[in-house]
Amino acid sequence: MIRIVEVGPRDGLQSIKQPIPISVKLDWIEKLINSGLKEVEMASFVSPKWVPQMADSLEICQRLKHKNSGFWGLVPNEKGYESFLDSGLKQAAFFTAVSDEFNQKNVNRDFLSHLKELEPLMQKAVAEGLRVRLYVSTVFDCPYSGSLPEKLVAKRLSELVKLPFHDLSLGDTIGRAVPKRVRALSRFIKSLMPLHQVSWHFHDTYGMALANCAQALELGFQRFDTSASGLGGCPYAPGASGNMATEDLVFFLEGQGERTGIDWASLCSASEGINRFLNRNTRPKTVR
Ligand code: HMG
Ligand code: MG
Repeated sequence: MIRIVEVGPRDGLQSIKQPIPISVKLDWIEKLINSGLKEVEMASFVSPKWVPQMADSLEICQRLKHKNSGFWGLVPNEKGYESFLDSGLKQAAFFTAVSDEFNQKNVNRDFLSHLKELEPLMQKAVAEGLRVRLYVSTVFDCPYSGSLPEKLVAKRLSELVKLPFHDLSLGDTIGRAVPKRVRALSRFIKSLMPLHQVSWHFHDTYGMALANCAQALELGFQRFDTSASGLGGCPYAPGASGNMATEDLVFFLEGQGERTGIDWASLCSASEGINRFLNRNTRPKTVR
């Protein structure tokens, strides 16, 4: 079974300036869960000054009717971890990036300072029995410093895999990767850790996300982060557009004979409400 982490309610919404009523978000999340998605990232305990759209994260977790252990919340630092604990979620997603410039813009710290801040928190989270994920952004290109040297990526990933986590998500933050680069990085990742712990997080800025997922699948990877209706983007990665659309990946995987456990038809209608609210006419190709 392929594992999909639905990041729409977090990655999909975090860059949207227009306030979205909590009822619209809750309705969307409930519909996504009803379509069979078991892992949904629905909260982000970052600073509301930095990312106002995520300020209602705690309330979302408290008001959601579904309660299960497969929901994720993003955690940037100690203060965020305290809010995460209040939320009752059982899966904590920490995040950092290969690129110093991106880290500086995204979390106001360089790589090493952020690493020092995250390590004790991740240790605590694992010791407390939580499931822990580490996102590593800009594993190919940085929105500020361009294409990152392979040596730097390898050095930083080698340091990061020493952290305690269950799940590592590799982020093509601005969606510029192509399958050849995915193959090259996969060879290196395979030398560092077991494949079943690795997820790919492709943004679809250049329309390459599905080709990259297909490549990763062929190489034996079984985990992907996607966003319903292809919403998505990081507020500190200018120009980064939506994530790999969940609907398109599910259609592709099921057609390829893989099992996802997701009902594609109900997934396709799950985002109607949020799209209507956002007055958004873009739809993933398979939904159109
Ligand atoms: P900072 O300003 O350096 O924080 O921000 P600070 O430690 O200096 O504290 C300043 C003030 O913020 C203090 O309040 C703190 O209490 C407060 P004051 O004393 O001035 O009243 N504060 C907080 N408040 C609420 N929650 C917190 C928190 N932390 C401090 N957690 C910080 C540092 C990390 C907080 C900030 O830079 C931030 O929130 N950044 C988040 C940026 C973000 O959310 N980016 C998007 C997610 S990453 C992503 O999208 C990539 C991914 O999808 C993968 C990919 O695509 O590659 C995962
Ligand atoms: Mg992202």
